Amino acid sequence: GMNQIGPIFHDEPLLASETLHCAGQAVALIIGESMDACLAGCQALVLDIEEQKPLLKMQEAIDKKSFQLDPHIIQRGDLEKAFDEAAHRIEGSFGNGAQDHFYLETHAALVTPKEKGDFHISSSTQHPTEVQAKVAEVLGIGRHQIVVDVPRMGGGFGGKETQGAHIAALAALGAHYLQRPVKIKLNRDQDMNQTGKRHPFRSHYEAAFDEDGVIQALKVNIYADGGWSSDLSGAILDRALFHLDNCYYIPNLYFEGRVLKTNHVSHTAFRGFGGPQGMLVVEEAMNRLAEYLNVDPVVVRKKNYYGKAPRNIAPYRQEIKFKDNRIHRMTRELMKSSDYKRRRKEIEKFNKKSKWIKKGIGFQPLKFGISFTNSILNQAGALVLIYADGSVQLNHGGTEMGQGLHTKMLAICAHELGAPLERIRVMFTATDKVPNTSATAASSGSDLNGQAVKDACVVLRQRMAKVAAQMLELDVKEARHLIFENGVVYHSTAPTKTITFEEVTTQAWIKQVSLSATGFYRTPDIQYDYATGSGK
Ligand code: HPA
Repeated sequence: GMNQIGPIFHDEPLLASETLHCAGQAVALIIGESMDACLAGCQALVLDIEEQKPLLKMQEAIDKKSFQLDPHIIQRGDLEKAFDEAAHRIEGSFGNGAQDHFYLETHAALVTPKEKGDFHISSSTQHPTEVQAKVAEVLGIGRHQIVVDVPRMGGGFGGKETQGAHIAALAALGAHYLQRPVKIKLNRDQDMNQTGKRHPFRSHYEAAFDEDGVIQALKVNIYADGGWSSDLSGAILDRALFHLDNCYYIPNLYFEGRVLKTNHVSHTAFRGFGGPQGMLVVEEAMNRLAEYLNVDPVVVRKKNYYGKAPRNIAPYRQEIKFKDNRIHRMTRELMKSSDYKRRRKEIEKFNKKSKWIKKGIGFQPLKFGISFTNSILNQAGALVLIYADGSVQLNHGGTEMGQGLHTKMLAICAHELGAPLERIRVMFTATDKVPNTSATAASSGSDLNGQAVKDACVVLRQRMAKVAAQMLELDVKEARHLIFENGVVYHSTAPTKTITFEEVTTQAWIKQVSLSATGFYRTPDIQYDYATGSGK
């Protein structure tokens, strides 16, 4: 197949070919029957590498214009005029370093060859479908020859959105050549050396305000250190740009983002996915302005919140409907419940008296966009199987990494079918149960998969209701008035005349009614147009 593992672009060889781009990049795969054998194999490996000066500093990459991907620009209004007319101008920089995910379970995969050149893969991944797709490319076979399952992960945090595919593909290569099961599990050092981190960002901002501290214009250039290949850097940069406004209406703006190419590991998804790196820039500007005006930063923030029209249009042209905007009420209630004003005064008094020990109190609002910014990905599926004995297997496309997704899906299934919780098993997430899934990411796992589970359960409940109506000696038209609840079924007007869920499923089988169904959901009305910088 192909020596490529990049999730979006083919810019990432699985094993280094001509150039080594970063320390820790995989060069060779050594397989043994014991760890000692593998380590001995490593010792025997001779690498002939001609050293070059690595590009590691973001500023150096900016100066050298070492970029990946296209720039992303969002703009509106008349920036120059707004800056010329503004009462106050501030400018500054903000940045963050990398951050390791430190999931408890490091990257791991077990690949078992099956009949006819097929493979079964157990993978610690947030994205089983992508593992399936990448392994298919690496082995040069169809996706239908690969089943990936995910029992659960010992933590993910974004670190397993794309990068689990590397380990699975390496193990699959081994299983392909040896026709034996191959397991790879990184130790902590390897995991930290070889896998991507949160993207370091550097941003420079210029902001213009009127005499009251109301923002008139904001110009921001942001740079994300993508490392040596693109991975998800484009989408992460997009999300940073979409969060530069945070909760504030900015009438005139110019936001430009670039991904840098450096010789670090390829940086990847990490909780917030660029959102924090974006919103912290405008938060920094708010803090600096408050210092400059010598007022409480809460006052400055409140003045700049999104409000009623025309102060309700986001930089990407989405209307922030005033009835949906909770920030004013939340601020009011939090100020009160935290006793902010009194504590701030007390802290100021304390700090004046205390030379070495200082205290602080802070407040920061947050608007976060859930859903994939690549709107195609906002889809999910489910497969629900009911057995004649009233027990249920629930399959959905999301993965469990400790966030409790399976518990929520179980609750939705039990609620919709009226089946007892203990009679439902959530199965391993598997690509032969639900195909073409999206990563469990973008704060969307519950919404997308939950709706798909509901969709499947409603179909099954409607089928069973017709059977139950007969059992309760009702006209079939009454089926839609049947209640499925806590393991029993009854008509809404006769709650004491019940039959059990199990009796209904057994009877449905006898009546030759199908007891399995798929469910599907796609989020409506989400899109983004790069050419105009507008969307929802
Ligand atoms: N796109 C892809 N992956 C993600 C996103 C997104 O918007 N957010 C978190 N993971």
